[in-house]
Amino acid sequence: MKKFLLIAALFCGIYSAQAIKIIRGPYLQSVTDTEATVVWVTDKEAISWVECAPVDGSNFYNVERPKFYQTYLGKRVFGTVHQVKIKGLKPGHKYCYSVSSKEVLHTKRNRIHYGDVVTARIYGRKYPGFYTLDPKKESTQFIVLNDIHAKQEKMDALLNTFKKGKTDMVFYNGDMVSHVPNVDILFDGFVNASINLFAKQTPFYLVRGNHETRGIFATSFLDYFPTPTGKTYFTLKHGDVFFIILDGGEDKPDSDLEYYETAVYDQFRREEAEWLKGVVESEDCKNAKYRVVLMHMPPIGGKNMWHGPKYSGELFLPILNKANITVMLAGHTHRYSYNTPETTDANFPILVNAHNTALKANVDSNGIKIDVIDMSGTIKHRHSFE
Ligand SMILES: [Fe+2]
Repeated sequence: MKKFLLIAALFCGIYSAQAIKIIRGPYLQSVTDTEATVVWVTDKEAISWVECAPVDGSNFYNVERPKFYQTYLGKRVFGTVHQVKIKGLKPGHKYCYSVSSKEVLHTKRNRIHYGDVVTARIYGRKYPGFYTLDPKKESTQFIVLNDIHAKQEKMDALLNTFKKGKTDMVFYNGDMVSHVPNVDILFDGFVNASINLFAKQTPFYLVRGNHETRGIFATSFLDYFPTPTGKTYFTLKHGDVFFIILDGGEDKPDSDLEYYETAVYDQFRREEAEWLKGVVESEDCKNAKYRVVLMHMPPIGGKNMWHGPKYSGELFLPILNKANITVMLAGHTHRYSYNTPETTDANFPILVNAHNTALKANVDSNGIKIDVIDMSGTIKHRHSFE
């Protein structure tokens, strides 16, 4: 009888054993002119790698493709969230990739016992590749959404502004969710919709809004949305535009009861301002034809401003005002407004996008044209910057 039970238990164990699965992604993050990071999540702990190949007409299996690993201090790491940076890419070139995760069954001292491998192949006819950013590209297009607050119908409608093969990049300018108590909210709120439509091949860049700072899972932000600097503020150069992505932190004073003694955003902003001083002095910033700033909370509103945007303005605007900024794109108020330099402390315009419109920007040597498009696809406002 005992033997029978043992055999039955073994059989059930084998029968119920599930192969490792990729449950989220893969999706592209932090794509620059020379690097790209791929993020994905497995249902079991695994050690992972990415193989990458140029899209040059050769079959993916034509030669051994270079492998890239997630490492920490020279050691490959394993877990369920996988984030692998591909390095050494050429600007404006097209690449494809595959991601693989080998299950870690168990460990004993320094020994690791592995199980099955799961792979997602992002190449071939279905996935014809992604482009690295290209500072020499003659015309570019990007779209901006913000303040979606995990409303799926808004995501679906506003992502109609995304045009495959035309839209180079997507910016999510903050408050894509209302709080981050768990990872599901991020994926259900906006990441899954992005992956389904474009994010395997076109990057989105998440500009942290004040709502993305809230909730116990908010400190995992960079695990899922890595950036070129390892901070939530960074720069990009693409076409004629030098992008400066800023993080304005929370909206109320750090001591507000709502933050439960966890907010230290004034210090964070001061450190960010020091970084920004170096950015505006860089050759990339000075030599670009246009300089576009993205920041979730706009420093507008005079005496009605809350502490967060007010202090961000006090710290960042004196620096940005010396940098010949073309335009700042913001959100947060949920209402459209176009704020000329006469009405703010900035010497450049601040365009605030509403929660139910998208910005579609076309950039070429003649200037930046930005259409404000509503959920039905109607252009509500048009702006040009030269
Ligand atoms: Fe906000």
